[in-house]
Amino acid sequence: MRIKVFTLFPEMLQPMLGVSILGRAIGSGRLQVDLIDIRAYSTDRHRNTDDYPFGGGAGMVMSAQPIVDAFAANLPQDFRGRRIYLSPRGRTLTQKTVEALAREEELALLCGHYEGVDQRALDAVIDEELSIGDYVLTGGELGALVVIDAVSRLIPGVLGSEESSEDESFTTGLLEYPQYTRPADFRGEKAPEVLLGGNHAEIVAWRRERSLELTLQRRPELLETAPLSDDDRDMIARLRRAHEIEAALPGLLRQDLRDADRFPRQWFSAFVPEASRRAAKRQCFSGRRHVGWLWQAFSMGFIPDCSEGETALDSWRGAGIDSGWLYLPDERLLYRFEGGIEPPAGHCLLADAALRRTLAQTGRPGKGPYWVELAEG
Ligand SMILES: C[S@@+](CC[C@H](N)C(=O)[O-])C[C@H]1O[C@@H](n2cnc3c(N)ncnc32)[C@H](O)[C@@H]1O
Repeated sequence: MRIKVFTLFPEMLQPMLGVSILGRAIGSGRLQVDLIDIRAYSTDRHRNTDDYPFGGGAGMVMSAQPIVDAFAANLPQDFRGRRIYLSPRGRTLTQKTVEALAREEELALLCGHYEGVDQRALDAVIDEELSIGDYVLTGGELGALVVIDAVSRLIPGVLGSEESSEDESFTTGLLEYPQYTRPADFRGEKAPEVLLGGNHAEIVAWRRERSLELTLQRRPELLETAPLSDDDRDMIARLRRAHEIEAALPGLLRQDLRDADRFPRQWFSAFVPEASRRAAKRQCFSGRRHVGWLWQAFSMGFIPDCSEGETALDSWRGAGIDSGWLYLPDERLLYRFEGGIEPPAGHCLLADAALRRTLAQTGRPGKGPYWVELAEG
């Protein structure tokens, strides 16, 4: 692909084009970027390229002449690529637009500066305006680099196989799942066990679930157009429910609590999908003694492993756990497990380090409203 950038400041772009993946793409000839200095085409005695705006107002406007002449001198008559002006007024750049641009053989990018460009130049040489977001930059050069960078990584051969673009945010219609690399334990924060286990199907399921969850939390509108399977839709329904629960929980905590007299086994198995259960299963230890299992249901936090039977909970009770909370959305009830057991020194808290820390710092258990408390005094 060949990209021509028309700019007053070619030196702003040059350094970025020499390094990393862009540098390699240009070095290998897969990408060619020509930087065209608009000033060189000015017919003004002092090589001026801007003037005061007609009608008054702050700042300067880039004159039509140098731009129109620079385009005429550098684009062939039969130029068939797209001629784009980077502008906050333009259509917002999306991955879809990037994919369409990557199918072109040639692109011409015009970078504005100051207060913008004389409209007559835009009418003469530009096909469309593209914005890189709803904010105003000092010039179009950063915008042009954004376009070049995003487009070039879709050119076949630019990314190595280890840098595939297939699974990424927006390419799948969803935001990407969280990534982890070595070490598996970074200062006490562990990478999810499922990613270390080598079970490909489980890893795929975990990643899909996290992608759906993140998209629902941060960019729910993407779910309206993303290609989704029936399983995805079920998962989203469950996640939505979990989020409603989180939102409702502060109010619920003020309600009267009922002691738990039964276990929500059915609810649990309906609510937490298999992949998530396996991924989030944690062993709880009291000192070195195994005292039971906990599950993490999405971002809800921890709930006891009722699928292992009542013995799991009984073994907690004998292990210094004072009380536990469990929210049952179908019944709109918050259960409190039996209390009154003094925790011997050094016994475990049934939450992981991150949850515990957030709880200590904020008085609330992070994103997960369900937790298990240790008795205090
Ligand atoms: C200070 S801006 C001019 C803004 C213009 N007066 C307006 O209000 O629309 C100078 C140049 O920066 C570039 N620019 C600023 N914000 C941009 C954005 N969000 N996307 C792409 N280019 C942008 C454009 O090329 C623009 O001509």
